[in-house]
Amino acid sequence: MVNKVTLTQFIIEQQRGLPDASGTFSMLLNNIVTACKEISHLVNRGNLVGVLGSAGSENVQGEVQKKLDIITNDIMVNALNWTGHLAGMASEEVDDIITIPAQYPKGKYLALFDPLDGSSNIDLNLAVGTIFSVLRCREGVDPAAEDFLRKGAEQVCAGFVLYGPSTMMVLTTGHGVNGFTLDQDIGEFILTHPNMRIPEESSEFAINMSNQRFWEPPVQRYIDECLQGEEGPRRKNFNMRWIASLVAEVYRILTRGGVFLYPFDLREPSKPGKLRILYEANPMAFIIEQAGGACSSGRERILDIKPTGIHQRVPLVLGSKNEVERIVAYHQLG
Ligand code: AHG
Ligand code: MN
Ligand code: MN
Repeated sequence: MVNKVTLTQFIIEQQRGLPDASGTFSMLLNNIVTACKEISHLVNRGNLVGVLGSAGSENVQGEVQKKLDIITNDIMVNALNWTGHLAGMASEEVDDIITIPAQYPKGKYLALFDPLDGSSNIDLNLAVGTIFSVLRCREGVDPAAEDFLRKGAEQVCAGFVLYGPSTMMVLTTGHGVNGFTLDQDIGEFILTHPNMRIPEESSEFAINMSNQRFWEPPVQRYIDECLQGEEGPRRKNFNMRWIASLVAEVYRILTRGGVFLYPFDLREPSKPGKLRILYEANPMAFIIEQAGGACSSGRERILDIKPTGIHQRVPLVLGSKNEVERIVAYHQLG
């Protein structure tokens, strides 16, 4: 029989190698995993359990919330607030930071999450996911919003779960990237994609072309050159994908390379990009860099940006290193 490595075994063995590991982090991750299994089950059941459709409310970003945006947020909060491992949480779907109820002990970590990424896909039966990030917190403090405003480079761990044809978790604790597939029969994530690496070269790009007229010149130039194919300066043909679900786009890039852009655009100059630094850009940047790729706003390495608000948005360019570096170089030319 093939020896299967479960996610729990993987995490515990990885922690053993760390000198000051107390096991707390393994337990926290286990709680996140439990929440994601529950979300996977609900997403899979869909309208058999009446969870599809709009909730009729808006989040702090002014985006229409799906019923599942709210349900998955509650699952995450309820799976994590009692554990004693967290000092606080922040979620894309909640205006303010989430405090730990007074009856529970507080721990030394902060959890940040996008409970349901790509939720506009949910009624279409297309891929959605959960993105999470863990930061260390100053011990003994009741965290304020400022405590969450840390550079992505400080993340202890980042991951996402993709609820696709299979449910997969992709995880980094700063020692490479590993992928696990949920074995529904035994209810465990099994290591199926060890040491995921992104090819440096690629000829596939992902961008929402409907926003083209709002892009800045560097992005116009990059995409135009891709579209010119063999006849253009790149001297090769490019393929395009747009799934409208960051988790699925990042998973594709981890698997076969490519580049993803949700760049700065001039639709609403007060909103620099669409994706959120704390819940989307930072965790994905940590994963992408750990897999040998690169991640930038076009002007700055994502992991070096000091956030100024918990729901701050950021332009995002990520994927195969050489392509991201080319896009950054085009920005530097002005
Ligand atoms: P969310 O569902 O958490 O709001 O995130 C959706 C994001 C991201 O997953 C995706 O890449 C992008 O928004 C799609 O944007 P468009 O609808 O503008 O294509
Ligand atoms: Mn999202
Ligand atoms: Mn979301």
